[in-house]
Amino acid sequence: MIEYHQSVDSTNNRAKELARDGMPEGTAVVSREQTAGRGRLGRSFHSPEGQGLYFSLILRPDCPPARLMHLTCAVAVATCDAVSDVTGFRPGVKWINDLIAKNKKLGGILTELSVSPTTGLVEWAVVGIGINLCQTEFPPELSEIACSLAQITGSVPNPHQLTQALLERLMQMSQQLLSHQSDIMECYRRDCVTLGKRITVISPEPRQAIALDVADDGALLVDYGDGILKKVNAGEVSVRGLMGYA
Ligand code: BTN
Repeated sequence: MIEYHQSVDSTNNRAKELARDGMPEGTAVVSREQTAGRGRLGRSFHSPEGQGLYFSLILRPDCPPARLMHLTCAVAVATCDAVSDVTGFRPGVKWINDLIAKNKKLGGILTELSVSPTTGLVEWAVVGIGINLCQTEFPPELSEIACSLAQITGSVPNPHQLTQALLERLMQMSQQLLSHQSDIMECYRRDCVTLGKRITVISPEPRQAIALDVADDGALLVDYGDGILKKVNAGEVSVRGLMGYA
């Protein structure tokens, strides 16, 4: 079931309501506009009417939350697959959840979970995906760092085709999420444009490092210059490339 809206605050908020009401895995929410689109680490996601795809999906993986550390990475690979299916263009991924094209942000992923206090198992996960489809201009604060699929491919993708492709790829991913974790992470490493780059880890004060690998739990493995690999977890920090957004 896909629930369509003209306007909502956030498709993730609406999908979370539906998940709490007991709607099953595979239930999706799509809106033409979000008035309070959200990103990772409390950031906002610019979501103007008719210009982007704003999509959230309910999953119900039956496991403890510690088994889902790679969920955002798995969603990123499935999203790249879907965009590639529909447009022929495969985006990159800036660790951990940004979709990238030509060193600019094409979209992003926000995953949210609820855990049962009695069983300690995941009750539901909502995976939210925002993709800039046809903007030719962005607000001043985004103009240097954001881009749209139309700018990259030269044509406006069909939002309905992209919604269907996302749904298919994400449901396939959900079947393999626990059984094929290392294969999924191998695909993520291939898509991740952060690897091999000099980056700034903002945690909370900025430190320069080289991004060397991504662990199977989604953590970024960096070298701060002393030759020792250190783990950076997505919940704590963001990273910036030294040249441009990615
Ligand atoms: C980020 O930039 O950190 C992630 C952005 C995720 C945006 C999508 S749009 C659909 C869903 N609803 C939201 O409020 N956020 C996600």
